[in-house]
Amino acid sequence: MRVGLIGLGTVGGQVADRLLNHAEPLRRRSSGVELILHRVLVRDLQKKRVVQVPSEMLTDDPARVLDDPEIDVVVELAGGEEPARGYLERALRNRKHVVTANKLVLARHGPELLELAGEMNVDVYFEAAVGGGIPLISTFKVDLLANEIERILAVINGTTNFVLGRMANAGAELAEAVAEAQAAGFAEADPTQDLGGYDAAYKIAILASIGFGARVHPDLVYREGIEGVRAVDFRYARELGYELKLVAVATREPGGHRVEARVHPALVPHGHPLASVEGAANAVYIEGDLVGGVLLQGQGAGGRPTASSVVGDLIELARSIRRQVQNRAAFEFDPMVQVVPMAEVMTRAYLRCRVADRPGVLAAIFQVFGEEGVSIASAIQKESDDRSAEFVVTTHPASDAALQRTRARIAELDVVVAVNSFLRVL
Ligand SMILES: NC(=O)c1ccc[n+]([C@@H]2O[C@H](COP(=O)([O-])OP(=O)(O)OC[C@H]3O[C@@H](n4cnc5c(N)ncnc54)[C@H](OP(=O)(O)O)[C@@H]3O)[C@@H](O)[C@H]2O)c1
Repeated sequence: MRVGLIGLGTVGGQVADRLLNHAEPLRRRSSGVELILHRVLVRDLQKKRVVQVPSEMLTDDPARVLDDPEIDVVVELAGGEEPARGYLERALRNRKHVVTANKLVLARHGPELLELAGEMNVDVYFEAAVGGGIPLISTFKVDLLANEIERILAVINGTTNFVLGRMANAGAELAEAVAEAQAAGFAEADPTQDLGGYDAAYKIAILASIGFGARVHPDLVYREGIEGVRAVDFRYARELGYELKLVAVATREPGGHRVEARVHPALVPHGHPLASVEGAANAVYIEGDLVGGVLLQGQGAGGRPTASSVVGDLIELARSIRRQVQNRAAFEFDPMVQVVPMAEVMTRAYLRCRVADRPGVLAAIFQVFGEEGVSIASAIQKESDDRSAEFVVTTHPASDAALQRTRARIAELDVVVAVNSFLRVL
């Protein structure tokens, strides 16, 4: 099976290394099919490479990978939306199988690419696009197929989990924790995609689409990043019995006609499998009607873990070609399934406010909660040295719209200086 690789960076380099230097065990595991690295497309032929690839294999001409009839499978590890999407489409039209780690392209264009692959009678594999080295897609595709998937809860962005961990454990504020993450190689120079929850939104869109057999476009995923989280929130969270994480949640409503898909920071109860996910690790907790809860955890990024998934896909493809069973109808997407607007999602909340330290304050605040039909689960008030106090409330479940109205009305009360934090509680 001749492989055309696009990209020789963090992941592509490790994939090339595996194919070039572990050929024999890979051949055995691929039912005797040899995985031959045939050509590698890069942007800059002069760039110094960490992994040595014979120079005659390198090209900067896309046609030499996408249109070469000798190439059976195109492995796309370039990233970005275009030209990557266009390259994948061209490879499929040329009846080449495709393996990709590109979550952006899959989240936005996955169903169209899978449909095209079906028409061309070739396969698309994308284990590496979500959760790096964690076997997620194959788990849905094979092991959990007997289930109706009910819920997917995930800590699925290593950068934000590292940053939040530093804020929780070292008391660092966001900017300091981000600088630490950058120095440790866990955050990009421009970390917006991670901190803003965009990366997690692409991933949960893919997982929800596959888990629920629904078309969940990433633009429909409710998204809030961690930019507003303050060090003090971790202290209150712990006092109340929670950790603070950026979570991605996808839930299927009973009947299966609507799904929830959202990414936001949330208080996660101690003892929940996601509460103890440390550092840059990722974890995905899947609930199925037969299996109950399944936790998958591991390295969600990095060249070697991600290459593990990419090369695993190549082996799976080689085996299915050998068995002549490629292009099984692996995924179906029901176009009628709707994504629930965030306003209708039932959730619990945590509010931290600064209030005047005088009689009647709590009565005024509680009255707003009562009028909005939001019931309070816990309340903490801390004295402070000036004439205001910090007041923290957690609620029982209510619609997000009711919680937002409560937040806005409380912020307008004379006795309230500011609502400084609003977070959901898992
Ligand atoms: N890094 C991770 O931990 C990780 C984890 C999961 C998924 N992924 C996904 O894997 C993909 C690759 O990520 P990466 O971290 O390996 O990226 P990277 O280190 O930036 O490498 C990208 C490679 O693609 C090549 N490239 C980029 N645009 C190209 C174009 N238009 N034409 C030809 N070659 C092009 C670059 O060529 P030059 O070297 O010549 O510039 C480079 O070799 C992305 O989709 C990413 O989201 C990465």
